[in-house]
Amino acid sequence: MNHFNYKNGLLHCEDIPLSAIAEAVGTPFYVYSKATLSRHFKAVDEAFSDIKHITCFAVKSCSNIAILNLFSSLGGGADIVSGGELFRALRAGIEPQKIVYSGVGKTVEELRYALNSQILMFNVESIQELQTLQETAAALKRTAPVALRVNPDVDPKTHAYISTGLAKNKFGIPVKEAAEIYLKAREMSNIEIVGVSCHIGSQLTTVAPFVESLTKIIDFIKGLTAAGINIRYLDMGGGLGIKYDDETPPAPGEYAAAVKEMLREVADCTLIIEPGRVIAGNAGALITKVLYTKEGNRKFIIVDAGMNDLARPSLYDAYHEILPVIESQEREEADIVGPICESGDFLARGRLAPLTERHDLLAVMSAGAYGFSMASNYNSRPRAAEVMVHQSEFYVIRKRETLADLIHGEAIPEK
Ligand code: LLP
Repeated sequence: MNHFNYKNGLLHCEDIPLSAIAEAVGTPFYVYSKATLSRHFKAVDEAFSDIKHITCFAVKSCSNIAILNLFSSLGGGADIVSGGELFRALRAGIEPQKIVYSGVGKTVEELRYALNSQILMFNVESIQELQTLQETAAALKRTAPVALRVNPDVDPKTHAYISTGLAKNKFGIPVKEAAEIYLKAREMSNIEIVGVSCHIGSQLTTVAPFVESLTKIIDFIKGLTAAGINIRYLDMGGGLGIKYDDETPPAPGEYAAAVKEMLREVADCTLIIEPGRVIAGNAGALITKVLYTKEGNRKFIIVDAGMNDLARPSLYDAYHEILPVIESQEREEADIVGPICESGDFLARGRLAPLTERHDLLAVMSAGAYGFSMASNYNSRPRAAEVMVHQSEFYVIRKRETLADLIHGEAIPEK
């Protein structure tokens, strides 16, 4: 459930018509419902309330500090994948002891920053990274809390670009090799083994791959325990899917029920989950204005948001529902495209789209996750504003970029 609904013929976010926000901040803009963000966070977090757990929101999915701060106030932590995300999480007020750090390519500077910040756990993805972390921690006279990210070779049955738990993917350490690396880690003076982690992919619409992967991870943890290696945290990653179109993903409660039963076998472990999309996805929309329409070989609706604002349709052929801000049932087949100079710049193709005229507003739904966080300045387009709605009030949580922002840091050589 989300808080985007028609009232009196106008699409609202909570109690505000989207047209009123458009008038105040211009278009395009991202809008998030605070009530939906909170509701989704709690739905996931409370599904695990009867076991020891930490809900570490995947910062990459939606990284505005106002939103991270909201989750922090609800008791959440963060799953980060860069020094930049660490900076955001800390600025947002997330406790370092609730931050886990994944990713195959952490730099020495990033490791140092995270060590000095005293985060909860490094999810280490290779032996070379482990050795580098040992050296970096030794130089700082610190101890690095480590989980190895294990690759369970499970097919998450999602888009190839967002599958991460298959043997052919770059992520994690194969289960077969991981035990040996744990033994090596145990000998390292500045490494403290605290956990095992995995993340098999994103936008999963069934629980079966999670169960398959967890079965392997639990077996693996039992093996470590038998070898005298004590595991305190089991990090299952994120990945729970949402409904964009006709998908029927499991509700957080179903997902939790399926895995909690299994977790009894490792009852001493604190569970870590890293949800992103399931919390933020349907809590946000991208609002755009029709600039022009034209009939060629087909009907084109040209809007003021492009692939630089929302990359998902171009990158993954992803479906996002597109609704007229002024309620109407009239539809026509059209491509909804942006102003960018590429034929790959579209928000929807061959869609039964709302019948529109110039200046009409459209809402691109389910854009709260991997929307603004993947936006770029391509074609020298200032990035859109971000707005958070709370009941009948709204806050600009990120200003629209200006033309001056576009060349920030650039310089013309003097000679
Ligand atoms: N943990 C790790 C280590 C991850 O790599 C990811 C996502 C998550 C958690 C959160 O997954 P979620 O709960 O959001 O599915 N840009 C793509 C999605 C990329 C996901 C990358 N990793 C998209 O727009 O579909």
